[in-house]
Amino acid sequence: MDGLRFPDGFVWGAATSAYQVEGATTEDGRGRSVWDTFAAVPGNVAFGETGEPGADHYHRYLEDLDLMADLGLHSYRFSIAWPRIQPSGSGAPDQRGLDFYRRLTEGLAERGIRPMATLFHWDLPQDLQDRGGWENRDTAARFADYASIVFEALEIGDWLTINEPKTVVESGYRYGVHAPGIKDDARAYVACHHLLLAHGLATQALRTVRPDARIGPALNLHPTYPADDTPEAREAAWHRDGLENRVYLDPIFKGRYPEDTLNWLAERGPIRDHILDGDLAIISEPVDLLGVQYYTPVFVNGAGERVFLHPRAQAEWLEIYPDGFHDILVRLRDDLPGVPLVVTENGMPALDRLGDDGRVRDDDRIAYLRDHLVAMHRAIEEGARVEGYHVWSLLDNFEWAEGYGQRFGIVYVDYATLSRHPKDSALWYRDVIKNGEVR
Ligand code: NOJ
Repeated sequence: MDGLRFPDGFVWGAATSAYQVEGATTEDGRGRSVWDTFAAVPGNVAFGETGEPGADHYHRYLEDLDLMADLGLHSYRFSIAWPRIQPSGSGAPDQRGLDFYRRLTEGLAERGIRPMATLFHWDLPQDLQDRGGWENRDTAARFADYASIVFEALEIGDWLTINEPKTVVESGYRYGVHAPGIKDDARAYVACHHLLLAHGLATQALRTVRPDARIGPALNLHPTYPADDTPEAREAAWHRDGLENRVYLDPIFKGRYPEDTLNWLAERGPIRDHILDGDLAIISEPVDLLGVQYYTPVFVNGAGERVFLHPRAQAEWLEIYPDGFHDILVRLRDDLPGVPLVVTENGMPALDRLGDDGRVRDDDRIAYLRDHLVAMHRAIEEGARVEGYHVWSLLDNFEWAEGYGQRFGIVYVDYATLSRHPKDSALWYRDVIKNGEVR
């Protein structure tokens, strides 16, 4: 294949999140989070694994910064652990927590790497959960306070508010497979509304505290297709699109919930009672960018069931379909003209093995990344305004309910020693960055 060149100035990065990589869950005053609680319950996480040791990044961040520099990353997306900043979710910040992220941010600046910080990547302080968590409207106000503290304290130009609200809503509140482990559709969408409200309040807070910085949500979008050419499948796919995409995109970018989805939700619970006058104006506070996370499409049959038409990665939910990446970016070009897009996650897990020669031969990941970059390139050629791309993930890490068994990193973590080993995909990605093109 001839090389496909990306625009000059295209930003290449990698992403992680606090609970998945940091470890050190009881150090320097960090409070307990819902994920500490959830992972401690036998049966919730594979093999009883927890956020310890993560990738021990809290202690090894300097080594990880050097790794990023070696790979030539332009941008590093990480998240800030709310329970390190406000151990119980409100009140005065703990300086030690702020200092960790200040050191990390300074280390990035010294290496010429741009920080992109996520405010919330699922590690809600447990004390707030004890007061109702995201079902409690007050949590959104607490979130805005926390956001103001970190906006003030950290020299960071690019911010993301809530990481994948859909995963919190569905895995956390509908299916109960993530913290806080609730299985209730009605409660799920109350939580959803408050997550969106939190997004809007934090966006407003940034405007006062750091008007020159940029902010946006990080949404996992799932292009949804009918699995066959029947009217039933087409209708089911549109309904599903509401739950996968529009229920998050529309409030933020259009200031309204999609009517069809809202009606469906209202049949399941009192969601409308929680949407107060003025909420949608807050939620639709203009943003500067949209973080796009793409892993998988959703094909739906006439009965509304998800069906799989393509091979899957090691994660059963991850159907490999690079065209879906192109399609969602082109849809955003049309639906949200002018909104800069930053790909904040894309990647796949594989059964990686560290060879005796120190190499990890993850050809399947290289193929996945290449095919997705080609699809993204096509979307850019067709006018999608994509500024940058972050591979998920820099490091192997704690994959939530799957524990450490699903490795998404381009850098292998040997959990026996916590040593790092760039996989073949990392070396391949380094060349992509160096050349500004995919071959
Ligand atoms: C989305 C999440 O943001 C991240 O935490 C997770 O590890 C990856 N997807 C892979 O499932």
